Amino acid sequence: MMKKSVMKEVSSAQAFAAFHPEHAVFVLSVDRQGKPNGMAAAWNMKCSEEPPMIAVAVEKGANTHKLISESREFVIAVPNKALEKGLLFFGSSRGSEVDKFGETGIRTMKARHTKTPLLADATINFECVLRNAVDAGDCTLFIGRVVASYANKGKRVLMYRGRIGGKRVFEEF
Ligand SMILES: Cc1cc2nc3c(=O)[nH]c(=O)nc-3n(C[C@H](O)[C@H](O)[C@H](O)COP(=O)(O)O)c2cc1C
Repeated sequence: MMKKSVMKEVSSAQAFAAFHPEHAVFVLSVDRQGKPNGMAAAWNMKCSEEPPMIAVAVEKGANTHKLISESREFVIAVPNKALEKGLLFFGSSRGSEVDKFGETGIRTMKARHTKTPLLADATINFECVLRNAVDAGDCTLFIGRVVASYANKGKRVLMYRGRIGGKRVFEEF
Protein backbone atom coordinates (compact mmCIF):
# COMPACT_ATOMS: atom_id res chain seq x y z
CA MET A 1 0.00 0.00 0.00
CA MET A 2 1.25 3.50 -0.83
CA LYS A 3 2.45 5.42 2.22
CA LYS A 4 0.19 8.36 3.01
CA SER A 5 2.06 11.64 2.54
CA VAL A 6 1.38 14.73 4.58
CA MET A 7 2.67 18.05 3.25
CA LYS A 8 3.64 20.38 6.07
CA GLU A 9 5.59 23.61 6.28
CA VAL A 10 9.26 23.29 7.25
CA SER A 11 12.20 25.71 7.38
CA SER A 12 14.00 26.48 4.11
CA ALA A 13 17.10 24.80 5.59
CA GLN A 14 15.11 21.56 6.09
CA ALA A 15 13.65 21.80 2.58
CA PHE A 16 17.12 22.40 1.06
CA ALA A 17 18.46 19.40 3.03
CA ALA A 18 15.65 17.23 1.61
CA PHE A 19 16.41 18.37 -1.96
CA HIS A 20 18.85 15.56 -2.89
CA PRO A 21 20.57 13.93 -4.70
CA GLU A 22 22.59 16.75 -6.25
CA HIS A 23 25.42 16.89 -8.76
CA ALA A 24 28.44 17.75 -6.64
CA VAL A 25 31.26 18.92 -8.90
CA PHE A 26 34.73 20.43 -8.69
CA VAL A 27 34.82 24.14 -9.50
CA LEU A 28 38.38 25.09 -10.39
CA SER A 29 40.07 28.37 -11.22
CA VAL A 30 43.50 30.03 -11.08
CA ASP A 31 45.20 32.82 -9.14
CA ARG A 32 47.14 35.73 -10.70
CA GLN A 33 50.24 33.54 -10.99
CA GLY A 34 48.23 30.87 -12.83
CA LYS A 35 48.24 28.48 -9.83
CA PRO A 36 45.06 26.37 -9.75
CA ASN A 37 42.80 25.71 -6.77
CA GLY A 38 39.10 25.11 -6.32
CA MET A 39 36.27 23.70 -4.26
CA ALA A 40 33.30 21.33 -4.31
CA ALA A 41 29.94 22.76 -5.42
CA ALA A 42 26.58 21.04 -5.48
CA TRP A 43 24.66 24.18 -6.41
CA ASN A 44 25.29 24.12 -10.13
CA MET A 45 23.18 23.80 -13.25
CA LYS A 46 23.22 23.82 -17.06
CA CYS A 47 21.40 26.99 -18.03
CA SER A 48 21.65 27.41 -21.82
CA GLU A 49 22.09 24.96 -24.67
CA GLU A 50 22.89 27.51 -27.39
CA PRO A 51 25.26 29.06 -26.58
CA PRO A 52 26.18 26.44 -23.97
CA MET A 53 26.27 27.89 -20.45
CA ILE A 54 26.63 26.58 -16.91
CA ALA A 55 25.94 28.38 -13.62
CA VAL A 56 27.36 27.74 -10.19
CA ALA A 57 26.55 29.40 -6.85
CA VAL A 58 29.74 30.19 -4.93
CA GLU A 59 29.76 31.49 -1.37
CA LYS A 60 31.20 35.03 -1.26
CA GLY A 61 33.82 34.13 1.37
CA ALA A 62 35.29 31.22 -0.61
CA ASN A 63 38.78 31.51 -2.07
CA THR A 64 37.33 30.16 -5.32
CA HIS A 65 35.03 33.21 -5.43
CA LYS A 66 38.11 35.44 -5.48
CA LEU A 67 39.86 33.31 -8.12
CA ILE A 68 36.87 33.31 -10.51
CA SER A 69 36.18 37.04 -9.98
CA GLU A 70 39.80 37.88 -10.82
CA SER A 71 40.60 35.38 -13.59
CA ARG A 72 37.08 35.46 -15.12
CA GLU A 73 37.31 31.77 -15.96
CA PHE A 74 36.57 28.41 -14.33
CA VAL A 75 36.37 24.70 -15.02
CA ILE A 76 33.55 22.44 -13.86
CA ALA A 77 34.80 18.88 -13.45
CA VAL A 78 32.21 16.15 -12.84
CA PRO A 79 33.62 13.47 -10.52
CA ASN A 80 33.25 9.71 -10.27
CA LYS A 81 33.77 7.39 -7.27
CA ALA A 82 37.57 7.48 -7.58
CA LEU A 83 37.50 11.26 -6.97
CA GLU A 84 35.16 11.15 -3.94
CA LYS A 85 37.91 11.64 -1.32
CA GLY A 86 39.44 14.46 -3.35
CA LEU A 87 36.05 16.15 -3.75
CA LEU A 88 35.51 16.02 0.01
CA PHE A 89 38.94 17.53 0.59
CA PHE A 90 38.29 20.30 -1.95
CA GLY A 91 34.94 20.89 -0.22
CA SER A 92 36.26 21.10 3.33
CA SER A 93 39.54 23.02 3.10
CA ARG A 94 40.42 26.56 2.12
CA GLY A 95 42.52 27.31 -0.95
CA SER A 96 43.81 30.39 0.89
CA GLU A 97 45.47 27.97 3.36
CA VAL A 98 46.35 24.83 1.40
CA ASP A 99 47.40 23.78 -2.07
CA LYS A 100 44.57 21.29 -2.67
CA PHE A 101 46.17 19.78 -5.76
CA GLY A 102 49.46 19.31 -3.90
CA GLU A 103 47.69 17.69 -0.93
CA THR A 104 45.49 15.30 -2.92
CA GLY A 105 47.71 14.51 -5.91
CA ILE A 106 44.67 14.81 -8.21
CA ARG A 107 45.88 14.66 -11.82
CA THR A 108 45.33 17.66 -14.06
CA MET A 109 45.43 18.18 -17.81
CA LYS A 110 45.99 21.33 -19.82
CA ALA A 111 42.81 22.99 -21.06
CA ARG A 112 42.47 24.37 -24.59
CA HIS A 113 41.32 27.96 -23.92
CA THR A 114 41.69 28.62 -20.18
CA LYS A 115 44.66 28.72 -17.81
CA THR A 116 42.55 26.64 -15.40
CA PRO A 117 43.38 22.95 -15.83
CA LEU A 118 40.97 20.08 -16.40
CA LEU A 119 40.85 17.02 -14.13
CA ALA A 120 42.40 14.15 -16.08
CA ASP A 121 40.40 11.47 -14.21
CA ALA A 122 37.02 13.24 -14.12
CA THR A 123 34.02 11.92 -16.02
CA ILE A 124 33.28 15.28 -17.70
CA ASN A 125 35.08 18.65 -17.85
CA PHE A 126 33.56 21.97 -18.93
CA GLU A 127 35.95 24.80 -19.71
CA CYS A 128 34.13 28.09 -19.00
CA VAL A 129 34.72 31.79 -19.55
CA LEU A 130 32.83 33.99 -17.08
CA ARG A 131 29.86 35.60 -18.81
CA ASN A 132 27.97 37.05 -15.85
CA ALA A 133 28.18 37.31 -12.05
CA VAL A 134 24.79 37.66 -10.37
CA ASP A 135 24.49 38.68 -6.74
CA ALA A 136 22.50 35.97 -4.90
CA GLY A 137 22.40 36.48 -1.13
CA ASP A 138 25.41 34.83 0.51
CA CYS A 139 26.54 33.49 -2.88
CA THR A 140 27.36 34.86 -6.30
CA LEU A 141 25.89 32.98 -9.22
CA PHE A 142 28.71 32.69 -11.73
CA ILE A 143 27.41 32.02 -15.23
CA GLY A 144 30.01 30.62 -17.59
CA ARG A 145 30.03 30.30 -21.34
CA VAL A 146 31.25 26.76 -22.07
CA VAL A 147 34.12 27.14 -24.55
CA ALA A 148 35.14 23.46 -24.64
CA SER A 149 33.72 20.22 -23.21
CA TYR A 150 35.36 16.84 -22.61
CA ALA A 151 33.88 13.46 -21.65
CA ASN A 152 35.44 10.21 -20.54
CA LYS A 153 32.81 7.76 -21.80
CA GLY A 154 34.00 4.85 -19.70
CA LYS A 155 33.38 6.65 -16.42
CA ARG A 156 30.26 7.18 -14.32
CA VAL A 157 28.91 10.20 -12.39
CA LEU A 158 29.06 10.69 -8.62
CA MET A 159 25.97 12.20 -6.99
CA TYR A 160 25.74 13.77 -3.55
CA ARG A 161 22.95 12.35 -1.36
CA GLY A 162 23.42 14.88 1.46
CA ARG A 163 24.29 14.27 5.09
CA ILE A 164 22.97 10.96 6.34
CA GLY A 165 23.60 10.24 10.03
CA GLY A 166 25.91 13.25 10.11
CA LYS A 167 28.11 11.90 7.28
CA ARG A 168 28.26 13.19 3.72
CA VAL A 169 27.10 10.35 1.46
CA PHE A 170 27.84 9.93 -2.26
CA GLU A 171 26.66 7.37 -4.80
CA GLU A 172 27.83 6.67 -8.34
CA PHE A 173 25.38 6.37 -11.25
C1 LIG B 1 29.48 18.08 -1.33
C2 LIG B 1 29.76 19.55 -1.15
C3 LIG B 1 29.05 20.48 -1.88
C4 LIG B 1 29.30 21.86 -1.74
N1 LIG B 1 28.58 22.76 -2.48
C5 LIG B 1 28.88 24.08 -2.42
C6 LIG B 1 28.25 25.03 -3.29
O1 LIG B 1 27.44 24.68 -4.16
N2 LIG B 1 28.59 26.34 -3.17
C7 LIG B 1 29.49 26.78 -2.23
O2 LIG B 1 29.76 28.00 -2.17
N3 LIG B 1 30.11 25.90 -1.41
C8 LIG B 1 29.85 24.59 -1.50
N4 LIG B 1 30.52 23.68 -0.71
C9 LIG B 1 31.50 24.18 0.27
C10 LIG B 1 32.85 24.58 -0.39
O3 LIG B 1 33.32 23.54 -1.25
C11 LIG B 1 33.84 24.82 0.75
O4 LIG B 1 33.43 25.96 1.49
C12 LIG B 1 35.29 24.97 0.32
O5 LIG B 1 36.10 24.75 1.44
C13 LIG B 1 35.63 26.33 -0.30
O6 LIG B 1 36.97 26.30 -0.66
P1 LIG B 1 37.80 27.59 -1.10
O7 LIG B 1 37.72 28.58 0.05
O8 LIG B 1 39.17 27.08 -1.33
O9 LIG B 1 37.16 28.12 -2.33
C14 LIG B 1 30.28 22.30 -0.82
C15 LIG B 1 31.01 21.35 -0.07
C16 LIG B 1 30.75 19.99 -0.24
C17 LIG B 1 31.56 18.99 0.55
